[in-house]
Amino acid sequence: MNSLLEHIYTVGRVEDSQGNLIDPFPTATPLKIGLFLKETINKYSLKNTLEIGMAYGLSSLFICQAHQDAGSGYHTAIDPKQSQKWQSIGLLNIKRAGLENKLRFFEERSDKVLPQLFIQGEKIDFAFIDGNHLFDYTLVDFFYIDHLLSVGGYIAFDDIWMPSVRKVVSFVLTNRNYELIPVKIEEQLSTQLWRISKRFMQNPFEINDLKFKMFSSNVCLVKKISEDQRKWDFHRSF
Ligand SMILES: C[S@@+](CC[C@H](N)C(=O)[O-])C[C@H]1O[C@@H](n2cnc3c(N)ncnc32)[C@H](O)[C@@H]1O
Repeated sequence: MNSLLEHIYTVGRVEDSQGNLIDPFPTATPLKIGLFLKETINKYSLKNTLEIGMAYGLSSLFICQAHQDAGSGYHTAIDPKQSQKWQSIGLLNIKRAGLENKLRFFEERSDKVLPQLFIQGEKIDFAFIDGNHLFDYTLVDFFYIDHLLSVGGYIAFDDIWMPSVRKVVSFVLTNRNYELIPVKIEEQLSTQLWRISKRFMQNPFEINDLKFKMFSSNVCLVKKISEDQRKWDFHRSF
């Protein structure tokens, strides 16, 4: 962790350009998920990373710091509301941490930026999806990220407490050649049990996402095994 991240998680505040302190939670990534992102990038030596949803820049700080520590790697972040809703604090934090040379930023919706990156032939090996969490937006994020993602690359989905996100992950694992990678995030047993029971209460009769309902963390990681090889009429319910 860099000293800015340590400070933010210690005081539980981010600072705007005027020095006003703002509580970034629960919007911002919790410490354990930030550390998970950084460890994932280190562990698999991921170089070209992309993130949907920057907000106050906490996840971006972890990812850019991982590249900085590795001495290589580059990050792209997309968020349409950086200046309007988040007062550009995400970008300010990246600057404060001296990580501007590790980041390219698009202040635009992901469904507009991702097709452009695809047309330009860009390639990535990791994406963190934490933008608009509605089912269709998350699916569109996945659809284009899959086009950008090299075989062997990884996608982390945040907020699998949401049925909409679990549905997308369920689609990915049943209809596409991706595998679920175990995620180890240490949390209290009571937190894990509360999370699991909440998921069952949300949609008790939905069984396709059973696997994720039982998943104790709020983030999941999938790995791309091959390019799309489905026949034109392939479909598995999800
Ligand atoms: C939960 S916050 C992200 C938190 C951030 N990853 C962090 O670690 O602090 C969700 C973000 O998604 C952004 N967002 C909403 N709709 C989006 C879209 N269509 N494309 C990209 N980002 C979007 C919001 O502006 C917000 O910053």
